Amino acid sequence: MQVSNRAQRIEPFYVMEVAKAAQALAREVAHTSEPMIFLNIGEPDFTAPPLVQQAAARAVAEGQTQYTPALGLDALRERISQWYAQRFGADVPARRIVVTAGASAALQLACLALVNAGDEILMPDPSYPCNRHFVSAAEGTPVLIPTTAAERFQLSADKVAEAWGEKTRGVLLASPSNPTGTSIAPDELRRIHDVVRARGGLTIIDEIYLGLSYDPAYSQTALALGEDLISINSFSKYFNMTGWRLGWMVVPEALVPAIERVAQNLFICASTIAQHAALACFEPDSIAEYERRRAEFKARRDYFIPELDKLGLRVPVMPDGAFYAWADCSDAARKLGVEGSWDFAYALMQRAHLAITPGRDFGSHETANYVRFSTANSLPQLQEAVRRLQVLLG
Ligand SMILES: Cc1ncc(COP(=O)(O)O)c(C=O)c1O
Repeated sequence: MQVSNRAQRIEPFYVMEVAKAAQALAREVAHTSEPMIFLNIGEPDFTAPPLVQQAAARAVAEGQTQYTPALGLDALRERISQWYAQRFGADVPARRIVVTAGASAALQLACLALVNAGDEILMPDPSYPCNRHFVSAAEGTPVLIPTTAAERFQLSADKVAEAWGEKTRGVLLASPSNPTGTSIAPDELRRIHDVVRARGGLTIIDEIYLGLSYDPAYSQTALALGEDLISINSFSKYFNMTGWRLGWMVVPEALVPAIERVAQNLFICASTIAQHAALACFEPDSIAEYERRRAEFKARRDYFIPELDKLGLRVPVMPDGAFYAWADCSDAARKLGVEGSWDFAYALMQRAHLAITPGRDFGSHETANYVRFSTANSLPQLQEAVRRLQVLLG
């Protein structure tokens, strides 16, 4: 059977190959003195807090399981709106909020509703691999722009202006970023948005890790810049609900009907049970728990990144959010007698039972020199990982 050109344009997710190999090895070494430590996972190691679990159970018991409106439960859109006001001092009316099946569905909706065949969308290299595939699936062309550590691995206004061509339709940014955990400085973001706005383009910013910010200088939503941009968000990361498949997007009011039409047809609605459960995310007890967990993520970062640096796995920019470390492994790979981050990741997997992610999926600019460590694992596990790395590289 013939696979569509669209599907063929979507590259494989190599990370999953490494993850599969790590899972297979994990079974073999489970009962040894060094069971596998997973530092390749891009999701919190916490689950939804008790109030959220109870709300889900209640929704099921009470039969609140029919479809919701395509834009989401009004009550949930209201709670998200209040969260923006309380946490970021941003005025984001509920009527601009669209509840989706995770950030993934929000990105898909944004691309399908706004990108025409042949439109070019600028994004940083490195960046979250699926983003370029969402653009490709909408028959647009992702254009990856190499970034440097001095730019916090993010686009700058100058680079956006320089790369803007006849076919460019907009930019797709993520702040904080996966894989680097670094954010765009608010002033630079304002300048980028001015460049895009002046060209009648589209600014889409993925703020899925915004709740997990550790530096007040960066923990501001781009929505403060005005109503003419699109922000993507999710219950997956800060709210620890990856498998519940729930997220949202904030769009200019004029775009809501178009997004609603596409959402009605493609998804009908996001999971009803997850939406009822998510209402409880904003209860004071849940927020207090999320804040404790955010402090835990920060403590892990503060421990792990200096240790990586000491081991010669230099992290050129301290992440200000998320739970990733984007480390240059060139020296460490040489020490192990291997070349490039792909072989380095396999060497760590086989010799130290540490699963990490090679840079390859995230772009092509210097990604062969970088690996991504995830710190979404307990402090004792991170300490044990450092001990094994010391044995291997010390
Ligand atoms: C930057 C970024 N955007 C979007 C997603 C997708 O998240 P969701 O679970 O909300 O679909 C991820 C998941 O890792 C991510 O890292």
